[in-house]
Amino acid sequence: ETPDFLEAFLRRIDAEEKIEPNDAMPEGYRRTLVRQIGQHAHSEVVGMLPEGNWITRAPSLKRKAALLAKVQDEGGHGLYLYSAAETLGVSRAQMTEELLSGKAKYSSIFNYPTLSWADIGMIGWLVDGAAIMNQIPLCRCSFGPYARAMIRVCKEESFHQRQGYEIVMTLAQGTPEQKQMAQDSLNRWWWPALMMFGPHDADSQHSDQSMAWKIKRFTNDELRQKFIDATIPQAEYLGLTVPDPDCKWNEDKQGYDHGPIDWDEFWRVVKGGGVMNRDRIRARKKAWDDGAWVREAALAHAEKRRVRKMA
Ligand code: ACO
Repeated sequence: ETPDFLEAFLRRIDAEEKIEPNDAMPEGYRRTLVRQIGQHAHSEVVGMLPEGNWITRAPSLKRKAALLAKVQDEGGHGLYLYSAAETLGVSRAQMTEELLSGKAKYSSIFNYPTLSWADIGMIGWLVDGAAIMNQIPLCRCSFGPYARAMIRVCKEESFHQRQGYEIVMTLAQGTPEQKQMAQDSLNRWWWPALMMFGPHDADSQHSDQSMAWKIKRFTNDELRQKFIDATIPQAEYLGLTVPDPDCKWNEDKQGYDHGPIDWDEFWRVVKGGGVMNRDRIRARKKAWDDGAWVREAALAHAEKRRVRKMA
């Protein structure tokens, strides 16, 4: 990769041209995208598990139908994203192996347990809310297939966020016990939701390069701040309180300050030490193993068609 090549590539990025799969690109750009899109795809698929846990216990037919649709959407998001990563020369089987072996990461948030129905509302409101904040700028990512996949994903995520907020609102306006259930859930999900945006900018090893390549459009801290500023007024409307005594409006910066984030907890969870890490990987491994016969049958069928066409 000559300096001329790298410079010409950056000029295309600066001119807001989309980079397409067959275009020449620096190896680092390709690797960064495979890493990020792969992790993102795994997060969507592993993200089906905490909510799937509540499908059989949804409190009404309407809630069950919405939750089923939402969990299916997440599966679809995983498929668009695996396809986008495949355009960069990595196979889905390879990415799955990396997930199951613990080599590839997925979002820390999905290693927390869903203990009550309120958690399903909280995931929609906070987790999908944080996901949208992070993903709207990805619609302008410099890599075409990722940016295009994000447009549809964001539309669906906004439905997910609304259904979650509506569940929490129903609980918050319900009996004192229901309101308490919502508050308890907010207490458990608030900090993990803030951690979803990743380490502080000073500790984010990839941010500078990803910003220069316009893969990321905002830093981790910028997006976290936007999320807090959007979410605190919603919590106030619900009559719920975030579990952070230092969370206060700061007139000078026209945004909310927040207390320290427990990064030890974040890294413990990322490295496999969260409450649900083992269960999540065990469930994905079982699904992959149980689906082996489907993949084999599909390949055998494709081969038969190929041979028939040639005959
Ligand atoms: N959970 C797990 N790992 C994380 C998290 C998190 N919440 N945040 C950061 N990390 C990891 C990074 O992947 C990186 O590890 P790696 O070098 O092994 O890949 C390391 O921590 C350092 O972080 P950064 O240098 O800040 O990494 P990056 O520039 O990739 O930024 C971010 C992280 C913001 C998550 C980015 O990758 C991104 O925007 N990804 C796409 C969105 C996404 O994956 N969303 C999934 C959750 S939303 C949902 O699925 C509903």
